Amino acid sequence: MSQPLFNKVAFIGLGLIGSSLARVIIAENLAKQIVASTRSVKTLEDAKALGIISEGYSNPVDAVKDSDLIVLALPVRATQKILETIQHHILPNAIITDVGSTKGNVVEAAHAVYGAELPIGFVPGHPIAGAEHTGVHAGKVDLFANHKVILTPLPTSAPWAVEKLIRLWQAAKAEVICMDVEKHDEVLAHTSHLPHLMAFNLVEQLANREDNLDIFRYAAGGFRDFSRIAASDPQMWHDIFFANKKAILNAVDGFEQQLAQIRHLIETEDSNALMGLLGHAQAARQHFNHMLAKKPLMEKNNVTQQFTIQPGPKSFQGKFSVPGDKSVSHRSIMFGAIAEGTTHVTGFLEGEDALATLQAFRDMGVNIEGPKNGEVTIHGVGMHGLKAPKGELYMGNSGTSMRLLSGMLSAQKFDSVMTGDASLSKRPMERIAKPLRQMGAQIQTTGERGTPPVSITGNQNLQGIHYDLPMASAQVKSGILLAGLWAQGETSVTEPEPTRDHSERMLRAFGYEVKTEGNRISLQGGGKLVGTNIQVPSDISSAAFFMVGAAITEGSDVTLEAVGINPTRTGVIEILKQMGADLSVENERIAGGEPIADIRIKGSRTLKGIHMPEDQVPLAIDEFPALFIAAACAEGQTILTGAAELRVKESDRIQVMADGLKIMGIDCTPTDDGIIIEGKGKSGEWGAIFNGGEIESHHDHRIAMSFSMAGLRTSGEIKIVGTETVATSFPTFTQLSEQAGLNIQVSEA
Ligand code: S3P
Repeated sequence: MSQPLFNKVAFIGLGLIGSSLARVIIAENLAKQIVASTRSVKTLEDAKALGIISEGYSNPVDAVKDSDLIVLALPVRATQKILETIQHHILPNAIITDVGSTKGNVVEAAHAVYGAELPIGFVPGHPIAGAEHTGVHAGKVDLFANHKVILTPLPTSAPWAVEKLIRLWQAAKAEVICMDVEKHDEVLAHTSHLPHLMAFNLVEQLANREDNLDIFRYAAGGFRDFSRIAASDPQMWHDIFFANKKAILNAVDGFEQQLAQIRHLIETEDSNALMGLLGHAQAARQHFNHMLAKKPLMEKNNVTQQFTIQPGPKSFQGKFSVPGDKSVSHRSIMFGAIAEGTTHVTGFLEGEDALATLQAFRDMGVNIEGPKNGEVTIHGVGMHGLKAPKGELYMGNSGTSMRLLSGMLSAQKFDSVMTGDASLSKRPMERIAKPLRQMGAQIQTTGERGTPPVSITGNQNLQGIHYDLPMASAQVKSGILLAGLWAQGETSVTEPEPTRDHSERMLRAFGYEVKTEGNRISLQGGGKLVGTNIQVPSDISSAAFFMVGAAITEGSDVTLEAVGINPTRTGVIEILKQMGADLSVENERIAGGEPIADIRIKGSRTLKGIHMPEDQVPLAIDEFPALFIAAACAEGQTILTGAAELRVKESDRIQVMADGLKIMGIDCTPTDDGIIIEGKGKSGEWGAIFNGGEIESHHDHRIAMSFSMAGLRTSGEIKIVGTETVATSFPTFTQLSEQAGLNIQVSEA
């Protein structure tokens, strides 16, 4: 058996937090011995009886002797006295940490005892966890699970000491974050201390009114929600407010300013600005809901949801409107924001990716109303009206947001940083950074391998360039053209194959001249965009799952209404037709500058395997995961080549699909730039094709939705793990699937 992490751990104080951590150390076998010192003899006796400690001492000096980890788990104000007492009795390399909710004053207390040079083992910490009850009996081994623990290593702290503490808290299943002391106190002042102060203050304001009884009697849910935390321990908050005085006063100043602003807007009846402020706050709350919620949605590496589909005969029927096009939705916000005048958008995709773009522009000072039932109104600020965001711009799962914004942000008068979730953090950003640098942009990809975060120093002197795109990427093309809007002279790109042209079309709709000559697209910098109305068509990429579902299910008949059929997006229709699908494009019309149609598809004949045409690859680039499911159900072999780009999507879609297909009993061989799939279909037979099994989505919405469709032809249960990202592009996916006849059970992990 490996050596435990620590030899002897001494707790000074053993309340809820201390005794919970002690329980973790026992459960995970992290120390040979645990002792404690508290003022209460009863606590020590109880702790011994509970088996939490082997020895208890009233004098802390006895506890810390020979201990290699000392945890100060008592009120912060006692820190200095305890450190003075134990100072000359501890091992030279002992790790000393604490669990207090303010950190500046803990470090100050340490300096008061040790002078300038603090012990190398001293690493303050703050587990952000609590419970209704306190005391040694209230401790629980899972108190810290899925909670954050902030460590604030000091310049004097030894890396090995920090490392060991990280391992300790990770063993408690906490998410460990390191930040500096000032940052910690500032963050906590805003996110915890200020809200508590406001809750106490509001209750006090109402309690002081003569009619307070009436007010409390009639107060509804809003008051209850807001004031809940004013029922916390006054002594504790009194101590915290003093302990973190400087940062809290700053936070209060910020609050007063903000309050004055909203007061002014109400007083002057500035309806537009008030709507902007309230809408911004509401959206910020919704956008960051995943961070505030107990079960984070898009947070790094967190898998929070799974789909389960049971075997059994299924039908797949109906008429559906899938949500708005993701690519068009992103661009409607971006272009509306930098246009002059107002832009109205209908059919906007209220998925997390497009909302990340929307939030980014709100963070840059653009007043955006909605989205409400797919309607968004953007009050454009013009080409030079974007403002510096106050913090990092969080792009979630969205590569389109990050690459297109790279171009726009490179040309601004301010600096910016863009970050993303686990999937986006692995995606290549040099493909856009490189051409932008040729234009004079100062852009760094600060991740390990040319990956996010992307850090940009704004430069208002970009030069137009010509760029030969080495890969067929609409995102890179668009990012360069967008930078070109602000650049000197002409910016042009040639693409190796035509890719989606939504940027070109929409720029024209905003009155900006864009030339397309064969594979060469160009524009002149220095023009302006004029606000307009944008009607976002339904997303053919979302419709594709239902098209495949219908194509592989006997007797199915599905119509997808008002789907965008821009010719740069219709590869999936062409490929399914070549595979023999019974598919018709009906009622073609133009809406908002984009062609749309109803797509009807029936499960009337078995698909056949084909060599997928390479010229269709960029036109169906997002639909291949779904098409692989179709290929597995086809008769004969399907070969895909020329699709290496699939390896750098939200996941490596060739490998991840191949892994999943194999688990489900499909014979397939991934290649560098495609895949070979041995279809199991037989003409006229509609029985099960897939065995079922557990699939890992790798934070990729399209992987999750594609394998869901396999549920229409499975003999065993299909479990798809990590389906939370489906909300990035198709928030209504499971509801519409259910309506069509495919029951997907959604469970939160
Ligand atoms: C998109 C372009 C494509 C596509 C993505 C959306 C766009 O990416 O896969 O889902 O909106 O421009 P690439 O440019 O990387 O091919």
